[in-house]
Amino acid sequence: MRPLQCVLRAQRCLRRGPLASVSWLLLRTCRAHSSVPSSACPRPERQQEDGVWKDFSSRLATGPTFQDFLRSASVPPEKPSSPEVEDPPPYLTVDELSGRQRKVYLETYGCQMNVNDTEIAWSILQKSGYLRTSHLQEADVILLVTCSIREKAEQTIWNRLHQLKSLKSKRLRSRVPLRIGILGCMAERLKEEILNREKMVDILAGPDAYRDLPRLLAVAESGQQAANVLLSLDETYADVMPVQTNPSAASAFVSIMRGCDNMCSYCIVPFTRGRERSRPIASILEEVRKLSEQVLQLIHERDNICKQIHLPAQSGSSRVLEAMRRGYSREAYVELIQHIRESIPGVSLSSDFIAGFCGETEEDHLQTVSLLREVQYNIGFLFAYSMRQKTRAYHRLKDNIPEEVKLRRLEELITVFREEATKANKSFVGCTQLVLVEGPSKRSAADLCGRNDGNLKVIFPDVEMEDVTDSGLRVRAQPGDYVLVKITSASSQTLKGHVLRKTTLKDSTAHC
Ligand code: 5AD
Repeated sequence: MRPLQCVLRAQRCLRRGPLASVSWLLLRTCRAHSSVPSSACPRPERQQEDGVWKDFSSRLATGPTFQDFLRSASVPPEKPSSPEVEDPPPYLTVDELSGRQRKVYLETYGCQMNVNDTEIAWSILQKSGYLRTSHLQEADVILLVTCSIREKAEQTIWNRLHQLKSLKSKRLRSRVPLRIGILGCMAERLKEEILNREKMVDILAGPDAYRDLPRLLAVAESGQQAANVLLSLDETYADVMPVQTNPSAASAFVSIMRGCDNMCSYCIVPFTRGRERSRPIASILEEVRKLSEQVLQLIHERDNICKQIHLPAQSGSSRVLEAMRRGYSREAYVELIQHIRESIPGVSLSSDFIAGFCGETEEDHLQTVSLLREVQYNIGFLFAYSMRQKTRAYHRLKDNIPEEVKLRRLEELITVFREEATKANKSFVGCTQLVLVEGPSKRSAADLCGRNDGNLKVIFPDVEMEDVTDSGLRVRAQPGDYVLVKITSASSQTLKGHVLRKTTLKDSTAHC
């Protein structure tokens, strides 16, 4: 049996389900031989505002974007993952299996799934010792993550392969040979046809075969073509944390399932991506948790990101939270608050609360009072419950807390919130705070208003001050300026003080 046929046979067996383990054995045996010397390939059967405001806005527009922060953010340390370390196949050494710093250029075509697949493929190769390049000319390995959805998508890839052909042939002998691979749906659909039509293609990897990329590339190093187009019933890459390949991308995809069982009469997807399977929920949550961790890390380490997090609790009673269908208990909420406080020391916290939700007992209400005491929020938004039509509570629950009780409870919550926020804010008295100036104070034209790093309102007299950023010139603060304010008094809503000098974010010497 010719090697590639071996793999294809294994694939057919695998589709039958119960034979999966037998097929896997067969695959392991066949993989040992699945590098296809081009001469041994079977023949294909078919060919195929105002000045200051304007100034403020233009400074904002030319300033850094969120991406600038993200790009150089330090990623929180990952818990060591414990994937099964596979032994190398008998015909390859550990060294041969490794990327040995070879540079991979990845090009993505088609759908969002392919964007995610590119991140998965790169994650696997990175762990295997490959480096990534965004310059085609310096690549040692070029991988195209392909699409088969419509004919034109495939034609684009064939055309690209023609261009790459000349790049490969012009490759200097003094460099390591350039390897080219077709990944994804087109590899799956056309299989050996690609290897036959384009002899310069070194590896083929179907959508479920990315874990095999290091082996396929190692085999290709010996000058042989290598392929794995096996589809799987259960591969979701759940343990592979995707690495975003495009650092300037504004979004990342969290993939939750692969394949499709719908069999729409026009669609190739079930045949190229295989059977529908869902990623375990725990692994999806873990990926989202890591993304959230990155955001917390970013808030912690960047002076130009305000250290304030709004975490609407709504109630301090787990029973009411359940009736509200909030999806968390009081304990889980408190745990999250603790985690945020450990991650961002000095973080300012704000929250929303509803008083008198359907069925709320006096005991539930006291639980909310105790949560307000326990967390000691800096900023709070508190409301009496008002039933809204169309909501689930409208249809299923009774708005059974009398209006005067709702209002009494709301007053109690407001009083407790204010006591705690005043305590928290008083800790700033005597401190020097870095304040981003917003404009005139609403209450007095003689005062300016700005925000400290915790997004707390800071009010200070609009007087001339020294500008340390402009050789001590005397200036008045403008919206968008950073100034140092010495805090002299605090209430539950605002800090008050006097301005020391104009400064910059970097040179600031805010302290307590
Ligand atoms: N009654 C009272 N408060 C409500 N909120 C939302 N819906 C209602 C309602 N029907 C509050 C919540 C939410 C904030 C924006 O408004 O606290 O977080």
